[in-house]
Amino acid sequence: MEYFLNEQQKAIKRLARTIAEEKILPVRAELDEREEFPWAIMKDLADADMFGVFIPEEYGGVGEGCLALCLVVEELSRVCSSIAISFAASALGSLPLIMYGTEEQKRKYLSDIVCGKRLAAFALTESTAGSDAGAIKTTANQVEGGYILNGTKQFITNGGEAEIYTVIALTNKGKGTRGASAFLVEKDTPGFSFGRKEKKMGIRASSTRELVFEDCLVPEENMIGRGGMGFIMTMIVLDCSRPGIGAQAVGLAQGALEAAVDYAQQRIQFEHPIISIQAVQHMLADMDIQLEAARLMVYAAARTIDSGARNFTEESAMAKVFASDMAMRVTTDAVQIFGGVGYMRDYPVEKMMRDAKITQIYEGTNQVLRNVIASELRKRNAMRE
Ligand code: CAA
Repeated sequence: MEYFLNEQQKAIKRLARTIAEEKILPVRAELDEREEFPWAIMKDLADADMFGVFIPEEYGGVGEGCLALCLVVEELSRVCSSIAISFAASALGSLPLIMYGTEEQKRKYLSDIVCGKRLAAFALTESTAGSDAGAIKTTANQVEGGYILNGTKQFITNGGEAEIYTVIALTNKGKGTRGASAFLVEKDTPGFSFGRKEKKMGIRASSTRELVFEDCLVPEENMIGRGGMGFIMTMIVLDCSRPGIGAQAVGLAQGALEAAVDYAQQRIQFEHPIISIQAVQHMLADMDIQLEAARLMVYAAARTIDSGARNFTEESAMAKVFASDMAMRVTTDAVQIFGGVGYMRDYPVEKMMRDAKITQIYEGTNQVLRNVIASELRKRNAMRE
């Protein structure tokens, strides 16, 4: 399949694959078992300038945008999506800054993010505000010189490991989604601490943690964008980042498919490799078809974003939903093709199936995203009437 990648994009993809195979493959099972954050790999990615692929050139990045980010996430996920999401979550944490930050904020914070010196994270979700993101309760009350943050964020990817956090909090409680604002909060800020570290089904080498704000003073100049625009900025940022979750799902499924084909060629039953059985061939063919369709949707959504299009809510949500549902099916079928041994931790498909589940849940559950897609359909229909 020709993906029409330019030379730069092809080089980025190749480099990400090399890092994944040389550095990640030997340690992925151990990091998963120990639930250990992949700091050494983050360093390898930093040394290879991977943290800058999507960051504009004027801030030290490569400036290749969303598609390049997706290519890196895909290649890392082909080997380990838990390490890939630690990388991708830093990109999500820095997107509000890139898209809405002041020149001064960008110069101050992107210089450390672009070289991988400091990781970023994005903090929206709370215990009572998951799919209903507008129901956040964390407050940011204006005082002289800044804002006092109070509240607890839940399930924050890179929580505790990142040093720069984009935090969404209410600056005007009575105004609903129009009362939220975005803030940059640094790790060592007094009043900012970390709570429970989650024990997860999959992506176990990534950190998922609570952020606790208790009378945490954030300087005025750390507000990102205009006050009251935090929710809308969040929606647009998530529209930009969801193809990255699609890419995670595509990479994960690619790894599972390759493992399943290898195994089906080696495994002898009834005196023949099981790949000679038509039932197995059809499973593999369906996995391949679905995977390729998802990859094309993810690349198309990323290219739409990079083209400067104004609205890509639907393309982005469709790519994330389709790819993550596909990854759940493909990894489950890969375990099925492995049979009994596929269920054991000695083989990689067991981990891939566990890792796939979260792609249907985070950055918008697939149910909420279907609502979003339906709402876009209704808007388009209303415009035709
Ligand atoms: N682009 C621009 N503006 C948008 C928008 C978009 N995609 N979506 C909504 N808006 C605007 C609306 O136009 C509206 O603006 P006005 O104030 O001018 O009317 C405003 O935002 C509020 O919109 P809604 O009334 O539609 O808001 P809602 O409260 O009904 O919620 C929702 C809508 C889509 C369900 C939203 O709550 C949502 O996206 N939920 C999913 C949350 C999510 O994705 N969380 C992911 C957390 S991050 C994460 O998971 C990262 C990780 O760990 C790796």
